[in-house]
Parts: sequence; C-alpha cells; structure tokens
Amino acid sequence: MKERIYELRELLNRYNYEYYVLENPTVSDYEFDSLLRELINLEEKYPECFDPNSPTQRVGGQVVDAFEKIKHKRLMLSLGNAFNDEELEDFDRKIKEALQSNGEIEYMCELKIDGLAMSIEYVDGKMNYGATRGNGLEGEIVTHNIKTIKSIPLNVEDTRTFEVRGEVYMPKKSFNKLNAIRKGNGETLFANPRNAASGSVRQMDSAIAATRGLDMFMYTYVDCEQFGCHKQSEALDELEKKGFKTNPERRVCNGIREVIEYIKEYTLKRDSLAYEIDGIVIKVNDIDLHDLIGYTMKTPKWAIAYKFPAMEVKTKLRDIIFTVGRTGKITPNAVLDPVLVAGSTVSRATLHNEDFVLGKNIKIGDNVIIRKAGDVIPEVVRPVLEDRSGAEVDFVMASVCPVCGGKVERNGEEAAHYCVNEHCPAKKIEGMIHFASKGAMDIDGLGEKVVEELYNLGYVKCIPDIYKLSECAGELMKVDGYGAKSVNNLLDAIEKSKFNSLERLLFALGVDGVGSKTSKVLAKRFENIDALANASFDELVAIKDIGDVVARSVMSFFMNEENLRLINELKSLGLNTLYLNNNVSFKETAFKNKNVLVTGTLNSYKRNEVKDLLENLGANVLSSVSKNLDYLIVGSEPGSKLEKAKKLGITILDEEEFLDLLK
Ligand code: IVH
Repeated sequence: MKERIYELRELLNRYNYEYYVLENPTVSDYEFDSLLRELINLEEKYPECFDPNSPTQRVGGQVVDAFEKIKHKRLMLSLGNAFNDEELEDFDRKIKEALQSNGEIEYMCELKIDGLAMSIEYVDGKMNYGATRGNGLEGEIVTHNIKTIKSIPLNVEDTRTFEVRGEVYMPKKSFNKLNAIRKGNGETLFANPRNAASGSVRQMDSAIAATRGLDMFMYTYVDCEQFGCHKQSEALDELEKKGFKTNPERRVCNGIREVIEYIKEYTLKRDSLAYEIDGIVIKVNDIDLHDLIGYTMKTPKWAIAYKFPAMEVKTKLRDIIFTVGRTGKITPNAVLDPVLVAGSTVSRATLHNEDFVLGKNIKIGDNVIIRKAGDVIPEVVRPVLEDRSGAEVDFVMASVCPVCGGKVERNGEEAAHYCVNEHCPAKKIEGMIHFASKGAMDIDGLGEKVVEELYNLGYVKCIPDIYKLSECAGELMKVDGYGAKSVNNLLDAIEKSKFNSLERLLFALGVDGVGSKTSKVLAKRFENIDALANASFDELVAIKDIGDVVARSVMSFFMNEENLRLINELKSLGLNTLYLNNNVSFKETAFKNKNVLVTGTLNSYKRNEVKDLLENLGANVLSSVSKNLDYLIVGSEPGSKLEKAKKLGITILDEEEFLDLLK
C-alpha cells in the first residue's frame, strides 16, 4: 500500500506540474480528482505515511494562530524607479561608468508583476518554508498558504539547500471572480489584485488561501552561482528546468535602446496579459558584474524598475461635496461613478479649490477624465466637453461651512476658502486626527473614527482632553464597542505618546508649512520647545532648509496666545517637549562617523553589499585593525583580524548582533 501512496504522489505532482506550470494537461480533471481522492483515503488509513509535502496538503486546512518571523539569509531588496527614457538612459550611463565600459550592456527585461515578493527555501528536495519580504531583513512565514499555490513544487529533484524568490500574484480572472463573490455576500471588495493576493497570503487558515486562485512567477535564485549560473537568463532557465514557473515574456536586450523598444511593446500588450503588471524590471544580465556595480542602501544599482505612466479613464461626475480640514480649509470633492483605474476602484477625487473647478470648466453631471499612477491619488484631468447634453449644473463654491454652518472666507493668495468659526467641530476633529496620526504622535487606536466618536460623545473636545481621557475610562468602558480591553489599550497608547521626542509633538501641533521633515530639523536645532518658541527670525532662516515663509509661520504660531496656552497645558499633563536623541533613527546614531571593519563571511550580505550599507549609514569602512576601530563585525572564518581586535579591546559584533543593531 505504501508503494501505491508514493506512486500516487508522484503521478499527482507530475499532473499538477503539467497543468499549472506547463499549462498543458495530459489527463482529465476527472482522472486527476479520482487519483487525489484515492490518495486522501490512503493517507487517512495509513497516518504513518503522512508527508507535509504530499499533494493532498495543497487543498489547505492548516490553521496557524500567528505568523512566525524569519530573518532572510540574504536581504530582500527593492528596486529604484525610472519613469521615462531619460531616466533609463541615465541608469545605463551610470552602469557603463561603474564598469568603465563603452560597449553595450546586456540587459534582461522582465515584466514587473504586481503582486508581493516571496522567498521559498528548499532543503533535502522539499519545500522548507515560504516567507514574505517583510521589511527586507525579516519576513513572515506563510508556508501553509504557499503550499496551496499549485504551480509551486512541493518537492524538487535537487537535494541541496537553496532559496528561490519571485512574485505571488492573483490573475485578473481570479480577482474578478473573488470580488464578484464578495459583492454577492455583501463583503468589502478588494481594491486591486495586489491587495487581494497580499490579503490571501496572510490568511491564518490555508483553506481560504486555497480558494483564491493565486499563482507565482519565480525571478531569482539566491546564490545561483552554486548551480553554475552566471547570467540572469541562465538562472531563469535553470529555475524552469527545476520545475518552477517563470514568466515567459522575458527577453535579453542588447543595450538600452533595445530595452526601450521592449518597454514600448509591452506597454501595448499590457492589457491583454492574464495578470496585472505595473512596469518592467531591467537587470544587468551578467550576474558576475553585479557586485562591481554595487548597491545603495535599499536597492541594487544593477537593476531598475520602469514604471508605466498614469492611466486615464472616463467616468461620470455625479456630485461635488465639500469637506473641512484641520485648518478650516474647505475642499470640493468629486463624487464619481466608481471606475477601475490602474488596478483600483476610484469613486472620489479631490477638486482642490474653487479656481481648480472653474479653471477646468467642470460641471456637475459632466463626463470627466480621471488619471491615476500606481499608488498616487487619483485626479480629475478635464471634463469631456463633447459629451455635454446641456443638463449639466454649474459649480458653486460653498458659501457657508458644510459642518458648522459658519461663515466662509476666501483667502485670496491661496485660492482657498476657509471656515472662520474658531469652534467649528470639523476643525477640532481633523486637528485631533492629525495630532494622533502615525507620522505625528502615533497614538495607536485613536484613528479617524474613534476621534469622531469620542468628540460626539463629549469625551474629547480638544487635544488636551486626549490626555485626560483616563479620568472617564470607567464610563467609556460602558459605551457600545469600547470594552475594557480596548479602552486600556487606548489609554496605554496615549500614555506612551507622552514620551515622544519633540519633533513628533511639533508636527502634531500642525504649524503651517512645518511637515515631519522640517519638524525634525527644528527639533534637532533647538532641542526644546521653549528655545524654539523664542527663536528669532534670523536664527530660523539661518537653518538650511528653512525659508522665509516657514520662519514667519513658526514665529506667528508661537506668538499666538492660544497656542502657548495649549503647549503649557500639554506640558502640565506630562508631555515631553525635549528632543530625545535616543528616539532618533539608528541611521543617525549607531554607525555615524564610526570606524568599522568587517571580517569573515556574513550570511546575510555579500562583502560589497555590507560595505555599501555601512557607508550609507555614515560609517567609515576601514581595511585593517587599529586602535581607532570602533566596531569589528565578524562573520564565519574571521582569521587573524579578530585576534588582533580582541587584543586591542575593540567592540566585536557577531552577525546576529549586527543585524539586531540594523533593525
Ligand atoms: S527583482 C533586487 N523581478 O518588484 C531585485 N522584482 O521594487 C529584487 N517584482 O520587491 C526584485 N516582478 O516584489 C524583480 N521580475 C521581477 C519582478 C519584481 C515584480 C517586484 C518585487 C520587488 C519589487 C521591486
């Protein structure tokens, strides 16, 4: 019986491969299903024959309660972008410079599949794990879901340990089917195939992922040299030989001109593909040249992603509604018939201000052209005048605030209208939403909806009330939807935010023209809020990156009595108003101006990668041990440098300690 089990597994694996990778089945679905059923029955009868990589495991049903994390053996990098021919030529020129070569470079062009990156390790001929990219250093193990993707082999002939990387994606057909079902069930729809794929891969229950029709194209072998590959084209062919699915549209191009031709061709073919792509990836084909060309902190210099230009579609503008922001600014917004643009459904778009609408001659009821590029916010390009019936309605700017009914005034310079009511609830609410948001005080659990609710319930009417919320915790716990646990979590997050460094508070206060970057510059320069409040115009403009307008805005903010009262109240509630060095990202501290040397072989980085990385972090990378050395980073087989450094009492970091520091 055991023999039959092995035989069935082998047959099913082969049929699977023929169907999902070669897309050329040799048996009927019926035959496949009956063999699979036979195997399921036998495995049930002989549990001692259980194999986590049996084809029966692809149907899903494994449930995890949390995703385990895993450190990638080699960093998972992302790619720099190019948006036009000039940027591609620039990329080509820099490579020629790095290689000191005038000859044409051989490039591999691949489609940039719009899904999510995945790394899969095989050990002893079996799939060992599949992990997401995560932050590039560390990902999440999602093997249970990856096993449900039928084109990915669970077993391979090669028994060496190796890792393959590629893109998990949801074909357009699976995406449309999934959303149709969700619509029928009244569930929220996925905005695009990428989100749908990513949501599916992050399911706890693999039975769900198994129904999502996911697929995967492999694009990299980690350490492909061990398989004798020295070119990306060879690596892809080798992957294919091993039974992996690779994208067939790839092409080796000689020189950047041919690359540009390839891009043109696929810009036209894009819509006819069975999956979404958002660009073309261009890689130097000769892998042996990669290290010579080098890396920046997050991206290789030997590859680039060309991104397709924005997509435009036509839809109907049903209405124009007004919203009020933190500063009281009133913005007209287009209410559109929902349309799919560049992979996501758009039903709203900002119309900025009165001049924008009138300048573009946009009327309610117009057909309009909408444009969207990748993750960029959709915009209304123009009305389609030829489509006008005469029934369109002229736009009129709001004459009173849509929230409080207060007076509206136009700020001439800015072409913007503002609600001038100081007590307008919309302003207060938006101000608090901004205050608590991720880039500002980062108070977990105090998002848009909660701020609005707490305001309407009367618990939080202004920013200081956030820090007094604990006084009414008992009451709040009785409110529908606010259990003890969620209230306690919220209070913890509020408490934690008191210790934020000054730059967060500054940004949170919402000084006109002071974004998160400027906040940091100011916090670093003045170190505490009082020094900043007393800064003179000259002191402010003397700072690089601070111009007249921002300087004036900062001064007027700190001259306003109400703002000073607010700051004092926040201080007395225990908020930190100092610039905290330890809150600054590692980049600016740990390796900055330090003398560093790497010895031995690291698992996570090649020698050149780690050198580039350290230099990007501000380190001086030395070539020999001396007493000036601050850190010695030690990989395997370190040699004499380690001994010498030990003698000199230099701080030694092993790979794990080094990676921890990087994090
Ligand atoms: S190569 C160091 N090739 O695009 C090179 N990436 O920003 C790493 N992607 O995270 C990637 N198709 O998720 C490569 N043929 C392809 C790709 C591809 C899609 C994704 C991948 C990566 C992102 C780059």
